[in-house]
Amino acid sequence: MSSLFGYEGKKVVLTGGTTGVGAAAVERIAELGCTDLTVLDIKEPTGPATRFIPTDMSDPTSIDAAVEAIGTGVDVLFNNAGVAGVHATDFVIRVNYLGVRRLTLGLVPGMPRGGAIVNTASIAGQGWPDNLAKILELIAIEDWDESLAWLAENDELVSADAYGFSKQIAQVWTMYSSVHTASAHGVRTNSVCPGPIDTPLMDDFIKTMTEQVIQWTVEQSGGTMLTADDIARAVVMLGTDASVAMNGHNMIADHGFSASMTTGQVDFSGLG
Ligand SMILES: NC(=O)c1ccc[n+]([C@@H]2O[C@H](COP(=O)([O-])OP(=O)(O)OC[C@H]3O[C@@H](n4cnc5c(N)ncnc54)[C@H](O)[C@@H]3O)[C@@H](O)[C@H]2O)c1
Repeated sequence: MSSLFGYEGKKVVLTGGTTGVGAAAVERIAELGCTDLTVLDIKEPTGPATRFIPTDMSDPTSIDAAVEAIGTGVDVLFNNAGVAGVHATDFVIRVNYLGVRRLTLGLVPGMPRGGAIVNTASIAGQGWPDNLAKILELIAIEDWDESLAWLAENDELVSADAYGFSKQIAQVWTMYSSVHTASAHGVRTNSVCPGPIDTPLMDDFIKTMTEQVIQWTVEQSGGTMLTADDIARAVVMLGTDASVAMNGHNMIADHGFSASMTTGQVDFSGLG
């Protein structure tokens, strides 16, 4: 019997658990009683995971092999692995969306009712309302290669900011897929949308977004950058039974930056 915030007796799978948010989440999930915690990553984790399945989330064959090895009965799936826009557009979308979709659809039929899926999205995807029709067009495509063909056809839209677009898809996918996971399987799907976090990925964000923009975002939301553990706590919370009422929700975790933006309280002068 698991407690409201606990992971006792739960079978958990987490992608991207070797560094950053995922590594911090592995620590927290183990601390909360999980004794069946599988990490999928390209690099071997050092934390308290109970099983490591080397998996490349950009590669459908690798994902299908992981689904086969994991089997059924996953209570909580954390789709956390992600890459920044320093890579080729199709690679960013494969890891940040297509891989998430494939792993989810591979595991959800075997998940028990009451299970949960938590995606790590981003406030970088807040612009999804502007592109909703196009994103739903992409989501309607089930086949991996046909999705890549759609991306090539829509390169102008996607490549301008491949990371931002991938996280727009992540937010829309969270809402869209939650309807199916809940109605067909009794499994909730939600996401956490963090602001800038002090993880190894930050170096790549500085290359694509500039240090000035990142620092400004931090200054406009209390002056302290989020830590991997700050976001791990939010991610882990959405996977627990404390969140049973939530489905299809993109939970902002940005020290209030988005609230400040929405209500016109940010100071743009620091951007020069
Ligand atoms: N760092 C930030 O500022 C920030 C902000 C918002 C959202 N995010 C999101 O948070 C999530 C975690 O990122 P992080 O900041 O902890 O970065 P990170 O680079 O520390 O962690 C990413 C993890 O994913 C793994 N990974 C990378 N490519 C992979 C692949 N092809 N297959 C399997 N695993 C792979 C890495 O080995 C690593 O363990 C990502 O989805 C990222 O987009 C990060």
